[in-house]
Amino acid sequence: MELGVGDVSQRAATGSLPGWDDVESLVVEAWQRNRGVDDGTVADYIPILAEADPTAFGIAVVEVDGDTHDVGDVDVAFSIQSISKAFVYALVCAEIGHEAVLERVGVDNTGLPFNSVMAVELAAGHPRNPMVNAGALATTALIPGDPADQWRFIVDGLSRFAGRALELDDVVYGSEAATNQRNRAIARLLESYGRIDRDPLEVVDVYTRQCALRVTAHDLAVMAATLADGGVNPITREQVVPATVCRDTLAVLAASGLYEHSGEWLFEIGLPGKSGVAGGVIAVVPGKAGIGTYSPPLDRAGNSVRGQRAVAFLSRALGLNLFASDAARAADTPHTSPGHTEGTPA
Ligand code: DON
Repeated sequence: MELGVGDVSQRAATGSLPGWDDVESLVVEAWQRNRGVDDGTVADYIPILAEADPTAFGIAVVEVDGDTHDVGDVDVAFSIQSISKAFVYALVCAEIGHEAVLERVGVDNTGLPFNSVMAVELAAGHPRNPMVNAGALATTALIPGDPADQWRFIVDGLSRFAGRALELDDVVYGSEAATNQRNRAIARLLESYGRIDRDPLEVVDVYTRQCALRVTAHDLAVMAATLADGGVNPITREQVVPATVCRDTLAVLAASGLYEHSGEWLFEIGLPGKSGVAGGVIAVVPGKAGIGTYSPPLDRAGNSVRGQRAVAFLSRALGLNLFASDAARAADTPHTSPGHTEGTPA
């Protein structure tokens, strides 16, 4: 991962965020430092995604008290894609219980690309992780009711996380539905192992819709801030999911939110996060804030290049790394590290 955080000096090493003006100026700086970065490739395996503007770039930070920092293209709508997996997982855990979900979908990183068929084969069909497609399909399959009920559950739940009514992007849905043979194969494999109790193609359809819900970087920051505050939406103040579910979901995101680059992300940034192939990234700063970014060019694992760099900068500049003591934050010298910044999803 090429972070490009350069020689930024330490601005905060405290248990809480600095004042609004200081956070705002750092969000502006994160945007300015990375707007010119042109590494990465816009996803094209879902044909319509290839039409995204590679220069679009927005960073939003929403604090748990509702204070907001929006810089750049934070109102550009795009499909949530795999970031939906985090929120659907939380909603399903809230609905049927952590243990029932764990019985069907594990919480260990697969180390495999998001669309890997091997993720099914790893443990005799027991999906190891809800953030790759195999486990995400098995998670969506656990939503009670028929496909129409399941879709309502997802739209309603993700809208409560966002604090506004989210809508399906029909064009993205149609484009992915016409090209999602691999996900259909994964669902059939899960069925063959008895890991899906319903029509696998109906599960793929609901999952494809959930990935095509339209959001903005600002929405993602509100959704992430809801996870940061134990399930309380910072704008509506609604308790969307229980605090224990947030805790569990954040553990999964820390271990596996960025696929085979999750360890590298956690090592460099120290926050739970999640990416989507349309170019969205979230990072959750427990007790403090949610970060949402949008920039379509991706690294080889399918993670937004500018999004990762922007979050890395903010983590260092604001002292957000969960594993850092005050002494470590004070000693921290943001640096550039080698890694993967170019290419398309594996
Ligand atoms: O399953 C798929 O292929 C997509 N709908 C979602 C993939 C995705 O966002 C992977 N992320 N970085």
